[in-house]
Amino acid sequence: MPGHDLSGVVVELGYGTTGLDIGQRVFGLTDWTRNGSLAEYTAVEARNLAPLSADVDLTVAAALPISGLTAWQGLFDHGHLTTGETVLVHGAAGGVGSIAVQLAREVGARVIGTGRTSDRDQALALGVDTFLDLQTEKLEDVGKVDVVFDVIGGDILDRSAALVRAGGTLVTIAMPHPVRPTDGRAVFFVVEPDRARLADLATRLRDGRLKPVVGAVRPLAEAPAAFAPDKRTPGKTIIRVAQD
Ligand SMILES: NC(=O)c1ccc[n+]([C@@H]2O[C@H](COP(=O)([O-])OP(=O)(O)OC[C@H]3O[C@@H](n4cnc5c(N)ncnc54)[C@H](OP(=O)(O)O)[C@@H]3O)[C@@H](O)[C@H]2O)c1
Repeated sequence: MPGHDLSGVVVELGYGTTGLDIGQRVFGLTDWTRNGSLAEYTAVEARNLAPLSADVDLTVAAALPISGLTAWQGLFDHGHLTTGETVLVHGAAGGVGSIAVQLAREVGARVIGTGRTSDRDQALALGVDTFLDLQTEKLEDVGKVDVVFDVIGGDILDRSAALVRAGGTLVTIAMPHPVRPTDGRAVFFVVEPDRARLADLATRLRDGRLKPVVGAVRPLAEAPAAFAPDKRTPGKTIIRVAQD
């Protein structure tokens, strides 16, 4: 069964599980080596889950685990982004990019977002200071930045290396770097489960600091069609397998 992100209610505990109770609302992700979230019941390692309070919508929460952890780890653990710095977020209206924009704004960074022409309004609504349209504008016009957060790869990633200021970081989640900044670091990483950080993200969801971009919400029977490449809609596609 495919799928990594999930939210729901604990129905059974494995031997020795601590920190969770039956009936508890949770969200999180299955390990990369094992999919399985697009199902009525999913076996998940407890370390990959964090509690969700009753007032957080399960549909919205399901949009956050991988995008939220990836954005956090990319910006702060790998990119070392801090207050007052400038970050260039590629794909700023997408699943990971939209969360990266909001987290970077929260820490007090200046955010330049990129995307397609149709992404401009969404990116501005999320809080980018500047939007660069990759279809009509020149990436190099951005100037130097402290951190690049890339989700696109290819030519955009190659050309982004030259935008990194001395001592800065080029972070990508798309592919290993073919090109590196002259005087900066380059990091390609795969997101790691982190219960404590998921709990931080849940707090932000609850108090409104984070708003995942939720796209289509479809029943389980329609999951294959929902993920067909030619049927994708903007925002995270959510598959509902049960009523809240
Ligand atoms: N390494 C990791 O741990 C990790 C974790 C999560 C995700 N990922 C990978 O990271 C990538 C992004 O994930 P996501 O969930 O953020 O995907 P997403 O929701 O599709 O967001 C990507 C955004 O970038 C835009 N985009 C893509 N190519 C573009 C281009 N050439 N010019 C302008 N805009 C472009 C997309 O627009 P369109 O929708 O119009 O194409 C979309 O808005 C995926 O390949 C995913 O598999 C890796």
